[in-house]
Amino acid sequence: MPFWGLLRRRRSPTARTAVPAPQPGLAGQERAPRFERRYLEDVPYLLPKDEAEIDRLNFQHYALMSVQKVHIVAPLGSYPQAILDVGCGTGLWAREVGQRFPACRVVGVDVEPPERLPTTPVNVQFLYSDVLKGLPFDDNSFDLVHQRLLISAIPARAWPTVVRELVRVTRPGGWLQLTETGGYYHRPGPLSLRVSGLLDRAFERWGFDPYIAEHLPMYLQQAGAVEVEKYVYSVVLGEGGGQGGRLLQKDLLALLHALSERMASLIAREEWQRMLEALPAEWAAYQTAFQFHVTVGRKPGVLQAAR
Ligand SMILES: C[S@@+](CC[C@H](N)C(=O)[O-])C[C@H]1O[C@@H](n2cnc3c(N)ncnc32)[C@H](O)[C@@H]1O
Repeated sequence: MPFWGLLRRRRSPTARTAVPAPQPGLAGQERAPRFERRYLEDVPYLLPKDEAEIDRLNFQHYALMSVQKVHIVAPLGSYPQAILDVGCGTGLWAREVGQRFPACRVVGVDVEPPERLPTTPVNVQFLYSDVLKGLPFDDNSFDLVHQRLLISAIPARAWPTVVRELVRVTRPGGWLQLTETGGYYHRPGPLSLRVSGLLDRAFERWGFDPYIAEHLPMYLQQAGAVEVEKYVYSVVLGEGGGQGGRLLQKDLLALLHALSERMASLIAREEWQRMLEALPAEWAAYQTAFQFHVTVGRKPGVLQAAR
């Protein structure tokens, strides 16, 4: 099947820069935050979308890979024909997977797809798609569907539909791999508990599920996936966790800073900043570990070697 045969329909990009509407505070009070960073319009995505966030996402990719070691945890065969990365961000995962499998079509979709760099392998393609509106591909198109860290992009109520959509475009016998994180700390100190408690309340108030990683195995099973398994990666933050711990600490702090403007509707900006500054010392004292969860599942059927 030609590559373009995978496409069902295309949409033109509509996501634009926007200043998000003021969020109601937990106590019901309205504050009118002034946003310095760039955000997307037309999608309920909580994180900024600007140069600083591109840097953070690239850094985060290497931080996660330094712990996870492999791009694909699912037991995918050696010769996949088509791989999809949903919400591909800067496209690093897709580019590296495209290099690893030069004979495989790798498609990354995002509401703001990344630039096609000169280093992008020819078998890697980036397209616009809003996963909340369905994916522009035929049923049974991909050997592997990968989605990583869309916790702040997919509202809680939309997850079951999104997961069904991911399963729809997976080929029978093909695999899904969904990576998510959340407020998962081991040995948290009081400050970590306060920060994650605030984030939980904020996410829930905004309609997001801070513990989506725990619910994904159920959603995959409900969507018909089998052999569903969850792998939990736990890393001590900072020096105690070696290279992975150092990188993840830096990334986690950058992520918490990236949420600062949103959190300003719940907590004074200065207080949030003070808490973030104090976190590394507490993490070191408690040897606090942070977790991310990789859930894999298979669509029933037998993967055909050639189409
Ligand atoms: C936290 S980033 C993760 C990026 C990438 N998966 C990674 O792990 O580096 C979330 C990405 O989801 C994209 N996104 C947000 N809402 C989306 C939607 N409704 N459909 C598709 N992509 C979306 C954002 O543009 C952003 O690139």
